[in-house]
Amino acid sequence: MAERGEISTAQNAQVDVTSEIRSFWDTDAATYDDSPSHYPRRPQEQAAWAAALRRLLPPPPARVLDVGAGTGFLSLLLAGQGYQVTALDLAPAMLARLRAKAADRKLDVETVEGDALHPPAGEFRAVVERHLTWTLPDPAAALTTWHAAAPQGRLVLIEGSWSSRGSSPGDLLRMHARRIASQIRGAEPGHHGHYSERMNAALPYRGGITPGEAVALVQASPWGPARIERLRDVEWALTEGRGQLDALLGTHPRWAVIAGD
Ligand SMILES: C[S@@+](CC[C@H](N)C(=O)[O-])C[C@H]1O[C@@H](n2cnc3c(N)ncnc32)[C@H](O)[C@@H]1O
Repeated sequence: MAERGEISTAQNAQVDVTSEIRSFWDTDAATYDDSPSHYPRRPQEQAAWAAALRRLLPPPPARVLDVGAGTGFLSLLLAGQGYQVTALDLAPAMLARLRAKAADRKLDVETVEGDALHPPAGEFRAVVERHLTWTLPDPAAALTTWHAAAPQGRLVLIEGSWSSRGSSPGDLLRMHARRIASQIRGAEPGHHGHYSERMNAALPYRGGITPGEAVALVQASPWGPARIERLRDVEWALTEGRGQLDALLGTHPRWAVIAGD
């Protein structure tokens, strides 16, 4: 009896954290796209991301599942290139933004509200995510369910090195310098708030997953052997034309972990 009680307490705690995460992003939806690092708008940045996706994924019109799609950064770039996109997200307000942008651009994106652990039915050719793994309580379980949704397919995790963990001394130095520069200029719009201690405690990769952790996570999953690529064209496009200080300070390393066929 005691054991069953413990399991249901743990499950309830997970449900509570998931609903706190949903509510965080439902509030964040109002301003998420204001931050250029969340939603790059300059044409060269959009084009560099589009080229990276095209290179990393099988050709269109492949059926792609974008997990934790948010306001649709990846989904819209993919639909714009002729992919058949299903966008899955926990937060209805984030998906509402995605749908509005898709309608504006006359793009077709199917949206599904739900947890990353429960992908919609149907076989996908590829599963992608950007900046989701850090906020999953059980990323290993998520990778297993994504593999079941694309058993013959490809996985592309798109991440950035946001935390100091696992960063090289050079990257760390630039990270600090960027922070100081942005304080002097006045902060860019970011998120509306922070995750609570309770939320962070439930997340194995809170603050950001490192390249080593991401590769190990994928390799331990049913996706098997993983490859990793640094997205240097994207990094270049993010600083290009912004002035000498930005060129010198660079940006957070962006990278992708790829597995499957
Ligand atoms: C940092 S945002 C990234 C959004 C988008 N992928 C992008 O690149 O801009 C994280 C997104 O993951 C969603 N999310 C968080 N936990 C989730 C879960 N368990 N299942 C599905 N979506 C989740 C949030 O609602 C939010 O939209």
